[in-house]
Amino acid sequence: MKILLTGGLGYIGAHVCTLLQSRGYRVVIVDNLVNSSKQMLRQLLAIDSKNPPILELLDITNTKDLEKLFQQHDDLSGVIHFAALKSVNQSIQKPLKYYHNNIIGLIELLKVVEARSLPLIFSSSCTVYGQSDVLPITENQPFKPSYSPYGFTKQMGEQIIKDTTSTNEQFKAMSLRYFNPIGAHDSALIGQWPINEPENLVPYITQVAIGKRKELKIFGDQYDTPDGSCVRDYIHVMDLAEAHLLGLEYLWSSKSNYYVFNVGLGEGVSVKRLVKRFEEVTKISINHRITNPREGDVPIAYAEASKIQTQLGWIPKYSIDEALLSAWKWEQYLDSSGLSIDST
Ligand code: NAD
Ligand code: UFG
Repeated sequence: MKILLTGGLGYIGAHVCTLLQSRGYRVVIVDNLVNSSKQMLRQLLAIDSKNPPILELLDITNTKDLEKLFQQHDDLSGVIHFAALKSVNQSIQKPLKYYHNNIIGLIELLKVVEARSLPLIFSSSCTVYGQSDVLPITENQPFKPSYSPYGFTKQMGEQIIKDTTSTNEQFKAMSLRYFNPIGAHDSALIGQWPINEPENLVPYITQVAIGKRKELKIFGDQYDTPDGSCVRDYIHVMDLAEAHLLGLEYLWSSKSNYYVFNVGLGEGVSVKRLVKRFEEVTKISINHRITNPREGDVPIAYAEASKIQTQLGWIPKYSIDEALLSAWKWEQYLDSSGLSIDST
């Protein structure tokens, strides 16, 4: 079977690609390299050259290109939609850029996917919950007004997809609300590869550990949490990848048209604790200092993770320590190989 991944050269898409390849699926990757590089394809080939993904370089906001692509690949069994801009901070500075890319991109994709009734998985985020009143966060918690255009694109995206499934009995879709994906492929040949200064915690930690950055700033330690720093639900990216495959398999045999699942371990870990765990597993100390809170950060978010486990049979395999170690191995690989993400 052939699966199309929009944004498949990005962090999560590339890891899902390796999983699909290893299970014998053929993969078509669509990407416009806005936040990735062709080097990622070479890395994917280094992991598995026997069943290589097909790369189609195009922008999903371009209706004509998308239509042509789907005509060319008329034997698809499903679509996983990763392609989006994802910087919370940049989305506040450039809202139109984010609404255009993430919303227009989704709508154009939906037109071609719905017309063919292809099962669709959408990369959503726990950001849709804002600061939930209930912890752990269940899927039926209401959306809170988002503090960022990025967050709104996930809320709107889910609604647009849900509304579209209600107009076509044959069209099925699923929103996966990721908590905090971290870590890298076991091979350490792919991982999270920020083009600029990392915004996410783990790549920042690994860049400090390797000596690329001087210090980690911990954004606030006066929150109403056990140690004052923010609490998140970190999940290994390969466990997250598995959730996509189970999701697709579920859609192929499901009766209902639209599903929503949290994807997290259900374990709340503070920023300070995560830094400590990284230090413990790698024996490297991370130079850090406490700074002001980052605008818009919610104090605590962790998942009630049982729905996906019981309904899809998803069983996470990796611990947080293993995820941290894999991220560190990837950073070391990047350092020793001299690879650069800008070298397309
Ligand atoms: P990423 O930036 O690494 O990957 C996204 C990919 O999409 C990139 O390769 C980029 O070049 C491509 N892309 C963006 N706009 C495009 C367009 N118009 N046409 C074609 N390609 C385009 O991001 P990621 O971390 O892999 O995240 C994947 C998805 O998961 C995103 O939708 C993101 O919002 C969502 N998500 C990520 C996280 C996280 O912490 N990484 C958490 C929750 C949700
Ligand atoms: N943090 C620091 N220092 C840093 C980076 C992060 O202290 O240099 C802290 C943040 O304040 C936060 C925690 O580490 O408390 C995690 O931050 P990340 O940026 O790694 O993750 P977020 O929870 O803020 O956001 C991530 C993705 C979003 C997504 C959200 C929910 O970046 O795209 O998870 O899924 F929407």
